[in-house]
Amino acid sequence: MQVFARQNLRRAVPRLSRCISSQQPPDSQSRTASFGFRTVPEDEKESLVKNVFDSVASKYDLMNDASSLGVHRLWKDTFVSELRPGRRGPIRCIDVAGGTGDIALRILDHARERYADRETTVDVVDINAQMLKEGFRRFKKTMYHNTPQISFHEANAQELPADKFADNSYDLYTIAFGIRNCTSIPAVLKEAYRVLKPGGTFACLEFSKVDNPLLSLAYDQYSFTMIPLLGTILTGDRASYQYLVESIRKFPPQAEFANMIRDAGFTTGKDVDGGAWENMWGGIACVHTGVKVA
Ligand SMILES: C[S@@+](CC[C@H](N)C(=O)[O-])C[C@H]1O[C@@H](n2cnc3c(N)ncnc32)[C@H](O)[C@@H]1O
Repeated sequence: MQVFARQNLRRAVPRLSRCISSQQPPDSQSRTASFGFRTVPEDEKESLVKNVFDSVASKYDLMNDASSLGVHRLWKDTFVSELRPGRRGPIRCIDVAGGTGDIALRILDHARERYADRETTVDVVDINAQMLKEGFRRFKKTMYHNTPQISFHEANAQELPADKFADNSYDLYTIAFGIRNCTSIPAVLKEAYRVLKPGGTFACLEFSKVDNPLLSLAYDQYSFTMIPLLGTILTGDRASYQYLVESIRKFPPQAEFANMIRDAGFTTGKDVDGGAWENMWGGIACVHTGVKVA
Protein backbone atom coordinates (compact mmCIF):
# COMPACT_ATOMS: atom_id res chain seq x y z
CA MET A 1 0.00 0.00 0.00
CA GLN A 2 1.38 3.36 -0.98
CA VAL A 3 2.18 5.60 1.94
CA PHE A 4 1.18 9.24 1.60
CA ALA A 5 3.91 11.60 0.38
CA ARG A 6 3.60 15.39 0.25
CA GLN A 7 4.74 15.66 -3.35
CA ASN A 8 2.32 12.95 -4.51
CA LEU A 9 -0.50 14.72 -2.77
CA ARG A 10 0.24 18.07 -4.44
CA ARG A 11 0.33 16.37 -7.80
CA ALA A 12 -2.90 14.54 -7.01
CA VAL A 13 -4.95 17.71 -6.49
CA PRO A 14 -5.44 18.76 -10.13
CA ARG A 15 -5.91 15.13 -11.18
CA LEU A 16 -8.66 14.72 -8.63
CA SER A 17 -10.39 17.97 -9.60
CA ARG A 18 -10.45 16.91 -13.23
CA CYS A 19 -11.89 13.56 -12.30
CA ILE A 20 -14.70 15.13 -10.29
CA SER A 21 -15.77 17.68 -12.88
CA SER A 22 -15.79 15.19 -15.74
CA GLN A 23 -18.16 12.92 -13.84
CA GLN A 24 -20.78 15.49 -12.95
CA PRO A 25 -24.07 15.25 -14.78
CA PRO A 26 -24.86 18.21 -17.06
CA ASP A 27 -27.72 19.43 -14.87
CA SER A 28 -25.71 19.53 -11.63
CA GLN A 29 -25.83 23.35 -11.77
CA SER A 30 -29.58 23.28 -11.30
CA ARG A 31 -29.56 20.83 -8.38
CA THR A 32 -29.09 22.13 -4.88
CA ALA A 33 -27.60 20.95 -1.61
CA SER A 34 -27.60 22.31 1.90
CA PHE A 35 -24.50 24.08 3.12
CA GLY A 36 -25.40 24.57 6.74
CA PHE A 37 -28.68 26.50 6.66
CA ARG A 38 -27.99 27.85 3.18
CA THR A 39 -29.07 26.19 -0.02
CA VAL A 40 -26.35 26.24 -2.66
CA PRO A 41 -25.93 24.75 -6.14
CA GLU A 42 -24.87 21.13 -5.68
CA ASP A 43 -21.59 21.60 -7.51
CA GLU A 44 -20.60 24.47 -5.21
CA LYS A 45 -21.00 22.60 -1.94
CA GLU A 46 -17.83 20.58 -2.33
CA SER A 47 -15.59 23.62 -2.72
CA LEU A 48 -17.34 25.43 0.14
CA VAL A 49 -16.76 22.41 2.41
CA LYS A 50 -13.18 22.24 1.20
CA ASN A 51 -12.66 25.90 2.19
CA VAL A 52 -14.00 25.14 5.65
CA PHE A 53 -11.53 22.32 6.26
CA ASP A 54 -8.64 24.15 4.59
CA SER A 55 -9.26 26.92 7.07
CA VAL A 56 -9.58 24.78 10.20
CA ALA A 57 -7.08 21.97 9.44
CA SER A 58 -4.12 23.20 11.50
CA LYS A 59 -6.32 23.89 14.55
CA TYR A 60 -8.82 21.10 13.96
CA ASP A 61 -7.72 18.81 16.82
CA LEU A 62 -7.41 21.67 19.31
CA MET A 63 -10.81 23.03 18.35
CA ASN A 64 -12.41 19.58 18.60
CA ASP A 65 -11.17 19.26 22.16
CA ALA A 66 -12.23 22.77 23.11
CA SER A 67 -15.69 22.72 21.55
CA SER A 68 -16.65 19.27 22.86
CA LEU A 69 -14.76 19.69 26.15
CA GLY A 70 -12.88 16.56 25.14
CA VAL A 71 -16.03 14.46 24.81
CA HIS A 72 -15.39 13.65 21.14
CA ARG A 73 -12.51 11.47 22.39
CA LEU A 74 -14.89 9.37 24.49
CA TRP A 75 -17.32 8.99 21.59
CA LYS A 76 -14.52 7.92 19.27
CA ASP A 77 -13.10 5.49 21.88
CA THR A 78 -16.52 3.88 22.27
CA PHE A 79 -17.13 3.82 18.52
CA VAL A 80 -13.90 1.94 17.83
CA SER A 81 -13.88 -0.35 20.85
CA GLU A 82 -17.41 -1.58 20.04
CA LEU A 83 -16.25 -2.53 16.56
CA ARG A 84 -13.49 -4.61 18.18
CA PRO A 85 -11.02 -4.44 15.29
CA GLY A 86 -8.54 -7.31 15.40
CA ARG A 87 -10.74 -9.61 17.46
CA ARG A 88 -11.03 -12.20 14.71
CA GLY A 89 -7.54 -11.60 13.38
CA PRO A 90 -6.07 -8.83 11.21
CA ILE A 91 -8.51 -6.92 9.02
CA ARG A 92 -8.42 -4.35 6.22
CA CYS A 93 -10.09 -1.07 7.18
CA ILE A 94 -10.91 2.07 5.28
CA ASP A 95 -11.56 5.24 7.27
CA VAL A 96 -13.31 7.71 4.99
CA ALA A 97 -13.39 11.46 5.67
CA GLY A 98 -10.67 10.40 8.06
CA GLY A 99 -9.22 13.90 8.47
CA THR A 100 -6.35 13.94 10.92
CA GLY A 101 -6.53 10.21 11.61
CA ASP A 102 -8.36 10.04 14.96
CA ILE A 103 -10.28 6.89 14.08
CA ALA A 104 -7.40 5.19 12.25
CA LEU A 105 -5.12 5.61 15.25
CA ARG A 106 -7.73 4.17 17.58
CA ILE A 107 -8.33 1.18 15.28
CA LEU A 108 -4.63 0.35 15.14
CA ASP A 109 -4.12 0.89 18.87
CA HIS A 110 -7.13 -1.25 19.73
CA ALA A 111 -5.99 -4.13 17.51
CA ARG A 112 -2.46 -3.99 18.91
CA GLU A 113 -3.25 -3.44 22.58
CA ARG A 114 -6.15 -5.88 22.84
CA TYR A 115 -5.20 -8.60 20.38
CA ALA A 116 -1.45 -8.16 19.80
CA ASP A 117 -2.39 -7.55 16.16
CA ARG A 118 0.20 -5.64 14.13
CA GLU A 119 -1.21 -6.60 10.74
CA THR A 120 -4.55 -4.82 10.66
CA THR A 121 -4.33 -1.96 8.17
CA VAL A 122 -6.19 1.34 7.75
CA ASP A 123 -6.42 3.38 4.57
CA VAL A 124 -7.34 6.93 5.54
CA VAL A 125 -9.27 8.70 2.79
CA ASP A 126 -10.17 12.38 2.75
CA ILE A 127 -11.00 14.94 0.09
CA ASN A 128 -8.92 17.59 1.84
CA ALA A 129 -5.14 17.63 1.42
CA GLN A 130 -4.60 19.92 4.43
CA MET A 131 -6.43 17.58 6.79
CA LEU A 132 -4.45 14.61 5.44
CA LYS A 133 -1.18 16.49 5.91
CA GLU A 134 -2.03 17.04 9.57
CA GLY A 135 -2.86 13.35 9.92
CA PHE A 136 0.32 12.27 8.20
CA ARG A 137 2.40 14.53 10.46
CA ARG A 138 0.67 13.15 13.51
CA PHE A 139 1.31 9.52 12.51
CA LYS A 140 5.00 10.32 12.17
CA LYS A 141 5.05 10.39 15.97
CA THR A 142 3.64 6.88 16.17
CA MET A 143 5.01 3.40 15.66
CA TYR A 144 2.76 2.96 12.62
CA HIS A 145 4.58 5.55 10.52
CA ASN A 146 6.34 4.03 7.52
CA THR A 147 4.65 0.67 8.00
CA PRO A 148 2.05 -1.00 5.78
CA GLN A 149 -0.48 -0.51 8.58
CA ILE A 150 -1.35 3.07 7.62
CA SER A 151 -1.73 5.00 4.38
CA PHE A 152 -3.32 8.32 3.42
CA HIS A 153 -5.25 8.98 0.23
CA GLU A 154 -6.83 12.07 -1.22
CA ALA A 155 -10.17 11.09 -2.73
CA ASN A 156 -13.86 11.88 -2.71
CA ALA A 157 -16.02 9.54 -0.61
CA GLN A 158 -18.68 9.74 -3.31
CA GLU A 159 -16.46 8.35 -6.05
CA LEU A 160 -13.56 6.34 -4.69
CA PRO A 161 -11.29 5.49 -7.64
CA ALA A 162 -11.94 1.82 -8.39
CA ASP A 163 -8.31 1.13 -9.33
CA LYS A 164 -7.18 2.05 -5.80
CA PHE A 165 -10.29 1.02 -3.88
CA ALA A 166 -11.44 -2.22 -5.43
CA ASP A 167 -14.86 -3.85 -5.06
CA ASN A 168 -15.21 -6.25 -2.10
CA SER A 169 -11.83 -5.37 -0.63
CA TYR A 170 -12.38 -4.13 2.96
CA ASP A 171 -13.61 -5.78 6.15
CA LEU A 172 -14.51 -2.52 7.89
CA TYR A 173 -15.57 0.89 6.55
CA THR A 174 -15.66 3.72 9.10
CA ILE A 175 -16.74 7.34 8.67
CA ALA A 176 -16.77 9.69 11.66
CA PHE A 177 -18.28 13.17 11.61
CA GLY A 178 -17.70 13.19 7.86
CA ILE A 179 -20.78 12.03 5.98
CA ARG A 180 -22.86 15.14 6.74
CA ASN A 181 -20.25 17.20 4.90
CA CYS A 182 -20.64 15.21 1.70
CA THR A 183 -22.92 16.48 -1.04
CA SER A 184 -24.66 13.15 -1.66
CA ILE A 185 -25.10 10.75 1.25
CA PRO A 186 -26.55 8.00 -1.01
CA ALA A 187 -23.45 8.22 -3.24
CA VAL A 188 -21.18 7.77 -0.21
CA LEU A 189 -23.20 4.78 1.01
CA LYS A 190 -23.16 3.22 -2.45
CA GLU A 191 -19.36 3.43 -2.52
CA ALA A 192 -19.13 2.03 1.01
CA TYR A 193 -21.21 -0.94 -0.09
CA ARG A 194 -19.08 -1.45 -3.19
CA VAL A 195 -15.71 -1.53 -1.44
CA LEU A 196 -16.77 -3.71 1.50
CA LYS A 197 -16.34 -7.47 1.31
CA PRO A 198 -19.45 -9.62 1.77
CA GLY A 199 -19.83 -9.80 5.55
CA GLY A 200 -18.03 -6.47 5.95
CA THR A 201 -19.26 -3.77 8.33
CA PHE A 202 -20.21 -0.16 7.64
CA ALA A 203 -19.96 2.04 10.75
CA CYS A 204 -20.78 5.72 10.92
CA LEU A 205 -20.32 8.06 13.88
CA GLU A 206 -22.17 11.32 13.35
CA PHE A 207 -24.01 14.03 15.22
CA SER A 208 -27.70 13.27 15.27
CA LYS A 209 -31.10 14.21 16.64
CA VAL A 210 -31.57 14.85 20.34
CA ASP A 211 -35.05 13.81 21.43
CA ASN A 212 -35.13 15.06 25.00
CA PRO A 213 -36.48 18.65 24.72
CA LEU A 214 -34.49 19.97 27.67
CA LEU A 215 -31.23 18.46 26.50
CA SER A 216 -31.99 19.66 22.97
CA LEU A 217 -32.51 23.23 24.18
CA ALA A 218 -29.32 23.26 26.24
CA TYR A 219 -27.39 21.69 23.38
CA ASP A 220 -28.72 24.27 20.87
CA GLN A 221 -27.83 27.12 23.19
CA TYR A 222 -24.33 25.76 23.69
CA SER A 223 -23.60 24.91 20.09
CA PHE A 224 -24.98 28.05 18.44
CA THR A 225 -23.26 30.41 20.87
CA MET A 226 -20.14 28.71 22.22
CA ILE A 227 -18.85 26.83 19.18
CA PRO A 228 -18.72 29.80 16.76
CA LEU A 229 -17.28 31.91 19.60
CA LEU A 230 -14.56 29.35 20.33
CA GLY A 231 -13.92 29.15 16.59
CA THR A 232 -13.34 32.90 16.51
CA ILE A 233 -11.05 32.86 19.54
CA LEU A 234 -8.99 29.77 18.69
CA THR A 235 -8.89 29.86 14.90
CA GLY A 236 -10.05 33.35 13.94
CA ASP A 237 -12.73 31.71 11.81
CA ARG A 238 -16.30 32.08 13.01
CA ALA A 239 -17.98 31.24 9.70
CA SER A 240 -16.51 27.74 9.41
CA TYR A 241 -17.72 26.79 12.87
CA GLN A 242 -21.12 28.34 12.23
CA TYR A 243 -21.35 26.05 9.17
CA LEU A 244 -20.30 22.99 11.19
CA VAL A 245 -23.03 23.59 13.77
CA GLU A 246 -25.68 24.26 11.12
CA SER A 247 -24.70 21.16 9.15
CA ILE A 248 -25.42 19.04 12.23
CA ARG A 249 -29.00 20.29 12.32
CA LYS A 250 -29.48 19.52 8.62
CA PHE A 251 -28.36 15.90 8.94
CA PRO A 252 -31.20 13.33 8.72
CA PRO A 253 -32.44 11.97 12.06
CA GLN A 254 -31.62 8.43 13.17
CA ALA A 255 -34.45 6.47 11.48
CA GLU A 256 -34.19 8.38 8.21
CA PHE A 257 -30.44 7.78 8.00
CA ALA A 258 -30.94 4.08 8.87
CA ASN A 259 -33.33 3.87 5.90
CA MET A 260 -30.70 5.37 3.63
CA ILE A 261 -28.20 2.76 4.84
CA ARG A 262 -30.66 -0.03 4.02
CA ASP A 263 -31.45 1.56 0.64
CA ALA A 264 -27.74 1.22 -0.18
CA GLY A 265 -28.05 -2.55 0.38
CA PHE A 266 -26.88 -2.97 3.97
CA THR A 267 -28.64 -5.06 6.56
CA THR A 268 -29.22 -3.21 9.82
CA GLY A 269 -30.86 -3.89 13.15
CA LYS A 270 -34.39 -2.67 13.91
CA ASP A 271 -35.25 1.01 13.90
CA VAL A 272 -34.63 1.54 17.59
CA ASP A 273 -31.80 2.80 19.74
CA GLY A 274 -29.66 -0.30 20.29
CA GLY A 275 -30.73 -1.70 16.87
CA ALA A 276 -29.87 0.08 13.63
CA TRP A 277 -28.22 2.82 15.65
CA GLU A 278 -26.84 3.51 19.09
CA ASN A 279 -27.25 6.96 20.59
CA MET A 280 -24.52 8.54 22.65
CA TRP A 281 -25.36 11.33 25.04
CA GLY A 282 -29.06 11.28 24.17
CA GLY A 283 -28.44 11.42 20.42
CA ILE A 284 -25.95 14.30 20.34
CA ALA A 285 -23.76 11.71 18.65
CA CYS A 286 -24.91 8.42 17.20
CA VAL A 287 -23.38 5.28 15.71
CA HIS A 288 -25.14 3.63 12.77
CA THR A 289 -23.97 0.23 11.59
CA GLY A 290 -24.86 -2.01 8.68
CA VAL A 291 -23.55 -5.27 7.30
CA LYS A 292 -23.05 -6.15 3.65
CA VAL A 293 -24.77 -9.49 3.42
CA ALA A 294 -24.08 -10.70 -0.08
C1 LIG B 1 -15.35 16.92 10.84
S1 LIG B 1 -14.04 16.24 9.92
C2 LIG B 1 -13.91 14.62 10.62
C3 LIG B 1 -12.52 14.08 10.61
C4 LIG B 1 -12.32 12.79 11.39
N1 LIG B 1 -13.06 11.71 10.82
C5 LIG B 1 -12.65 12.96 12.84
O1 LIG B 1 -13.58 12.33 13.32
O2 LIG B 1 -11.97 13.72 13.53
C6 LIG B 1 -14.82 15.94 8.36
C7 LIG B 1 -13.87 15.50 7.28
O3 LIG B 1 -14.65 15.15 6.13
C8 LIG B 1 -13.88 15.46 4.99
N2 LIG B 1 -14.74 15.44 3.80
C9 LIG B 1 -15.73 16.31 3.49
N3 LIG B 1 -16.30 15.97 2.34
C10 LIG B 1 -15.68 14.84 1.91
C11 LIG B 1 -15.83 14.01 0.76
N4 LIG B 1 -16.75 14.25 -0.18
N5 LIG B 1 -15.01 12.94 0.63
C12 LIG B 1 -14.06 12.67 1.57
N6 LIG B 1 -13.88 13.43 2.67
C13 LIG B 1 -14.67 14.50 2.84
C14 LIG B 1 -13.29 16.81 5.34
O4 LIG B 1 -12.23 17.16 4.51
C15 LIG B 1 -12.91 16.59 6.81
O5 LIG B 1 -11.58 16.14 6.93
